[in-house]
Amino acid sequence: MLAKYRGPDALSRQLYERASRVMPGGNTRHSVALAPYPIYARSGSGCRITDVEGEERVDFLNNYTSLILGHAHPQVTEAVQRRAALGTAFTMPTPEEVELAELLAARVAYVEQIRFCNSGSEAVMLAIKAARAFTGRHKIAKFEGAYHGMYDYAEVSEGPTPDAWGEADAPASITEPGTPASVARDVVVLPWNRPEACRELIERNKNDLAALLVDPMPLGIGMIAPRSGFLPWLREETKRYGILLIADEVLNFRLDYHGAFHTYGITPDLATFGKIIGGGFPVGAVAGSRVIMSVFDHTGALKVHHGGTFNANPVTIAAGLETMRQMTPEAFDRLNHLGEYVRDGLRRLFRDTRRSAQVCGAGSMFLAHLTTEELIDFRSLRGFSRTNPVYSDLCHTMLEYGFILSPRGIFGCLSTPMGEAELDGLVEALGRALSELD
Ligand SMILES: Cc1ncc(COP(=O)(O)O)c(C=O)c1O
Repeated sequence: MLAKYRGPDALSRQLYERASRVMPGGNTRHSVALAPYPIYARSGSGCRITDVEGEERVDFLNNYTSLILGHAHPQVTEAVQRRAALGTAFTMPTPEEVELAELLAARVAYVEQIRFCNSGSEAVMLAIKAARAFTGRHKIAKFEGAYHGMYDYAEVSEGPTPDAWGEADAPASITEPGTPASVARDVVVLPWNRPEACRELIERNKNDLAALLVDPMPLGIGMIAPRSGFLPWLREETKRYGILLIADEVLNFRLDYHGAFHTYGITPDLATFGKIIGGGFPVGAVAGSRVIMSVFDHTGALKVHHGGTFNANPVTIAAGLETMRQMTPEAFDRLNHLGEYVRDGLRRLFRDTRRSAQVCGAGSMFLAHLTTEELIDFRSLRGFSRTNPVYSDLCHTMLEYGFILSPRGIFGCLSTPMGEAELDGLVEALGRALSELD
């Protein structure tokens, strides 16, 4: 299936050569990079993508978890076409934004008020600014290895190399190139699943911390689940010091109809959304209690400016509304059961083939690690993390077998058009791909 892609006349190769002349790295989004060049997509339908060479594969990445209904879902496509014909952007609000805001507020207990933006990164930025404005404090805390998008402060220590780690109980704050070093001083980096170290770091910074930013199942930390009691403990600890808890649900809102934090029985102060709530279009949202969200209220003592030419554009909102309507509690349950089915299938494969591996993930997502080491935090992933070349080799072999997975880990997520046949196919193909690597 990769013969044409690898061939001298490959259309993907030609497109990449042209892209490299006009785009640095031939790319406009690092997460789609693939060596030696990406496979360019032509179209998608249901759970399948057809590439420019005409090859069709089952898509287990779903634009990095954002397409929960798969590609070109008929009702979403119709809603978008209907809306686009009526105009796509105005210097006026549209009725759709009110409807999506009402829908999310009705579903998620900790969403009293909400504002839309165009990406998860923006949502995280707005939540952090809101927390600073509300508390009058300047620092934030986040977990080492956790990815929260591109805002300077949220990016700190999102994937530091071991030489830069610093103390295990007080991880170093590492900024990304292009970010002023001063940003590092305002970010307290915490080790995932280590309450003793977290307690000490939070206590030391308690008067300066505006917020703790947390994703309950962080992809950057290998989807290592929070230890029992860890998230409730964080909730109590932050409440004690008046530190706002920001739930980053950009990726993990696909876990539950009522929101990811609902599954852990926790009420955060602020929450960020993105990905699935845009139905395949660019989106983000920041939400929380009425009193905290009042920092955005221009009719009151406005504290945080919120602009954005395309915020809540009606095309995104129409796609998001239709997607959310399709995602009933039953649809979430079915998809999460399929998630359990594929994680069980992977565990069985590893057991039957006596392979050193563990399966993480929850809901409709899976992430398998080729190790039997105890997985606790970001550092425990050392040696078999996303940078291990075995994953890109596996990704290529799986592409050959007709499945799209991440080149940075055995990571994938499901969409509603999938059934057991696709999941059985994936597990069987992965077994073959792993044995080829031996
Ligand atoms: C947890 C989390 N937060 C924030 C973001 C940033 O979202 P976006 O890519 O829409 O800017 C992502 C993106 O993958 C994410 O996974």
